[in-house]
Amino acid sequence: MQIAIDGPAGAGKSTISKFVASEMGYLYIDTGAMYRAIGYKVLKNNISLDENEKIELLAKESEIELKITDHGQSIYLDGVDVTGKIRTPEVSMAASRVSAIGGVRRTLVDLQRKIAGSNNVIMDGRDIGTVVLPDAEIKIFLTASAEDRAMRRYLELKEKGVETSYQEVLEDMQKRDYQDSHRAESPLKAALDATVIDTSGQTLGESVKLIVDFIKSRAKA
Ligand code: DC
Repeated sequence: MQIAIDGPAGAGKSTISKFVASEMGYLYIDTGAMYRAIGYKVLKNNISLDENEKIELLAKESEIELKITDHGQSIYLDGVDVTGKIRTPEVSMAASRVSAIGGVRRTLVDLQRKIAGSNNVIMDGRDIGTVVLPDAEIKIFLTASAEDRAMRRYLELKEKGVETSYQEVLEDMQKRDYQDSHRAESPLKAALDATVIDTSGQTLGESVKLIVDFIKSRAKA
């Protein structure tokens, strides 16, 4: 069984995916974390975000692994745990930029398909239902208003001690939404056979419940 969850930033994809994975014993694959790891490495190596060829090569030569640890899922880049380093606003923007590069996408899509293999998986991202797992049995396109998504992300960042304002998070999110849905390579869009779920006005808890119930009913059918 393959479950694909796509949608813009802050829609609640990862919270829902983690919950479903632990409830149903599925493997959770956070594809955004992979683009973030490459964005982080580009920034760390002082490579300009315009240098597409260099970044393609860097992605090809990078070793990315998802590991289950006592603290949940961790992402390793070239053997080093970078989980705590990839959620900053700078890395978010760099991830969005590198994800527009065709060669980077090809490298990471190959890796994502390899990890999915023949496991029961729930994978979240932007192109899972359209490109990575086009035959997934369940496809959800999760969305919510930019204001709701920004407020959730702002509260999340605040809890982690990241200094920012709601306005800044909203503007970053709108910019990232635009970049992710207007790029030439696999732009963010709902697969034709995806169920679109809009969680505007709901708390994250309410939307998790709604979607988990939906997945469970579809998985049984
Ligand atoms: O889901 P996220 O916010 O962690 O993703 C970070 C960036 O990576 C996002 O701006 C778009 C990109 N991304 C993508 O292009 N395709 C994916 N499957 C996952 C993420």
